[in-house]
Amino acid sequence: EREIQVGLLGLGTVGTGVASIIKHHQETLSHQIGRKIVIKRALVKDKKKVRESWLSNLELTENANDIIEDPSIEAVIEVMGGIEETRLLVERALKEKKHVITANKDLMAEHGSTLLQMANEQKCDLFYEASVAGGIPIIRTISEGLSADKLTKIMGIVNGTTNYMLTKMSANNRTFDDVLLEAQELGYAEADPTADVDGIDAARKMAILSSLAFSSPVQIEDVSVKGIRQVSDVDLAFCQQLGYTMKLIGVAQKDEGQIEVRVEPTLLPNAHPLANVHNEFNAVLVHGEAVGETMFYGPGAGSLPTATAVVSDLVAVMKNMQRRVNGYSYQTPLFQSTFKTEDE
Ligand code: NDP
Ligand code: HSE
Repeated sequence: EREIQVGLLGLGTVGTGVASIIKHHQETLSHQIGRKIVIKRALVKDKKKVRESWLSNLELTENANDIIEDPSIEAVIEVMGGIEETRLLVERALKEKKHVITANKDLMAEHGSTLLQMANEQKCDLFYEASVAGGIPIIRTISEGLSADKLTKIMGIVNGTTNYMLTKMSANNRTFDDVLLEAQELGYAEADPTADVDGIDAARKMAILSSLAFSSPVQIEDVSVKGIRQVSDVDLAFCQQLGYTMKLIGVAQKDEGQIEVRVEPTLLPNAHPLANVHNEFNAVLVHGEAVGETMFYGPGAGSLPTATAVVSDLVAVMKNMQRRVNGYSYQTPLFQSTFKTEDE
């Protein structure tokens, strides 16, 4: 059986999930793509760190060149996080004509337009389904599933950590610090959880979704952001008594050509569908002129749900490789339409 060699940049919460899915779903995967997926090497910060024993047969490196410069590696999976160092690695991988899959919303919100453009020029795929809402395939839904519609509004819970925290604080009267620690232990929070609790992670995800939905790059600076740092278990109990649930809600809307994006703690009536999204789960309501309102729901953070999105992107990359051999391919959707209308 033919193989595809891939390189992992990162072997933490998501990287371990990716290795697990490739190991346990190999038959399902190779049935779809006709090739066996082999992780040739994984980049880590510290090779000596204690890892799960089943990972011991994976070759680890602390030198990214061992992946980026290895000609046998056809696809690179970036699950290490960070922005500047990671951007350089992704750019180098694309220049080496490697396809790239990333779960990194920080990178995509800051540099997505440039990187996607570069990927297209290199005739490589750059897929990033895992960067928003973990296990919900919302990026493909917006860029492909709803491509016939004119989208007008996206509203959702797109951060698992804060939703987990708000759920536990309101149901069990637990303190902010206590539930944040738990979300970190469960692998939901970012390496620096400030981005989660201050709403920045959600703002980055809303910037990515609105760039795709409205075909116009939305910068993170353009998103108005408030996090949940000021919210206490006492506030949440009080809201409950009044029939409301507090959620960290992202809203992106396009009205008369103007795009407005914001993230803020919001009181929802208990019967609202987003009020019933609990723990690390996410949900996204998408409004389109023709479709009306659709809602997508699923786990928004965590090892295996996120890794499902990453490995599904790898399957998409491999299907595209086959299409290229046959002379056609699916192009990675850009944040901005490349087609000009007559009045532009
Ligand atoms: P972790 O901190 O668990 O893992 C990061 C991995 O990358 C570790 O293996 C670490 O090495 C390695 N690494 C980090 N920096 C470097 C570096 N400078 N050089 C070499 N190796 C490095 O992060 P997660 O797996 O949680 O997240 C990874 C990415 O996925 C982030 O972009 C995150 O935002 C995104 N993401 C995370 C989700 C989640 O639920 N956790 C969900 C969706 C997206 P070592 O093991 O030696 O420390
Ligand atoms: N820290 C992020 C969250 C991970 O809690 O939603 C998933 O993107």
